Amino acid sequence: MAMWWSSVKSRVVLAGVIGCGWTGLLAAAPLLNEPVLPVPVCAGVNADKSLLGKRLFHDFRLSMNNTMSCATCHPLDQWGMDGLSRNVRADDSRATMHTPTVYNAAFNIAQFWNGRAITLEEQVDEAVRVDLGSNWNDVVRKLSLDADYRQDFARLYRGGIQAVNIRDALATFERSLITPNSRFDRYLRGEEEALTRQEKQGYALFKGLGCVSCHQGINLGGNLFHRFGLLQRIGPEGTDDESGELDRFAFTRNPEDQGVFKVPGLRNVARTAPYFHHGQVATLEEAVTLMARGQLGRRLTMGERDLLVAFLRSLDGMPGGECP
Ligand code: HEC
Ligand code: HEC
Repeated sequence: MAMWWSSVKSRVVLAGVIGCGWTGLLAAAPLLNEPVLPVPVCAGVNADKSLLGKRLFHDFRLSMNNTMSCATCHPLDQWGMDGLSRNVRADDSRATMHTPTVYNAAFNIAQFWNGRAITLEEQVDEAVRVDLGSNWNDVVRKLSLDADYRQDFARLYRGGIQAVNIRDALATFERSLITPNSRFDRYLRGEEEALTRQEKQGYALFKGLGCVSCHQGINLGGNLFHRFGLLQRIGPEGTDDESGELDRFAFTRNPEDQGVFKVPGLRNVARTAPYFHHGQVATLEEAVTLMARGQLGRRLTMGERDLLVAFLRSLDGMPGGECP
């Protein structure tokens, strides 16, 4: 009876929140009616290609002046991001948005804060060109001088060292960068005691307030786009104007996309400060407070805020995902 009632309640809450393109993930969840799914325990990618991609991810030769690799901005031992609101690219220009993590990016429907790259392969293209300031001709030429690469590419790919294969190896490695086995996922898989009472209350609040209408699925986000600052502007002075050039409208030119960004995933979010595409918010406490106000029109009590943060901290996973 209690179970039945809570399931009806959560359906009503979910149906009642602002139209976010709810996709009926409820049915697929391992626990009754949970709108969040655990990260799979293993990524199931080709291990040899992924290993090659890992080397490429750390290879400075992918940059214009051999000074930088993907890992410079996405250090894997720091939760896949550099913690900077604006990093500096290989060509000394400054990034326009805050570095997101590469972990669990594979679960996103599109890449970058505004989703302008649909696939990880497309995203690699832009990273090489814009962040690393290079181009495929130069990268292929430099890597072709390396006998180990020549051998490995020949073994794993038809056509050897070429852009399409480098992209594939990097994207394969990125698909392996998942963080399973967070305490929250253990809870979703039925380990009732994996979460404290406070964290469970935080999760209930996350659902009850409607955060889950946008932050849901495996990544607690990453599967839809929404207006940022739906009900109230979010972020310090000056960020509004800038958003105008960074949103989805910047490349779709569809007026409905003004101010719209990808809802980011929240896995490991306690580890990936600063927050939002502008990276101007330093703490999770502040980010949660701004979200409640800006997206849901809710002023949180300190107690509510702390419960939500406690829940979000239980989302820290374990980088891994290799299949046995
Ligand atoms: C100079 C720093 C820098 C380098 C080098 C760099 N990136 Fe990034 N990366 C960023 C920034 C900044 C963004 C966000 C850009 C945006 O959304 O407009 C980003 C976004 C991403 C995303 C999207 C994540 C998401 O959730 O949307 C992925 C994946 C990624 N980078 C992987 C890579 C790979 C692979 C490489 C190497 C080929 C690389 N990056 C090199 C700074 C960098
Ligand atoms: C209407 C959709 C929507 C709702 C509801 C919503 N969010 Fe968000 N959330 C977003 C979007 C969009 C962003 C990212 C915007 C940006 O920075 O471009 C975001 C960003 C965040 C971030 C920052 C993540 C990062 O890595 O920078 C946190 C934390 C967060 N939300 C938590 C919450 C919490 C907690 C709630 C409920 C109180 C909530 N959100 C409700 C859409 C939503």
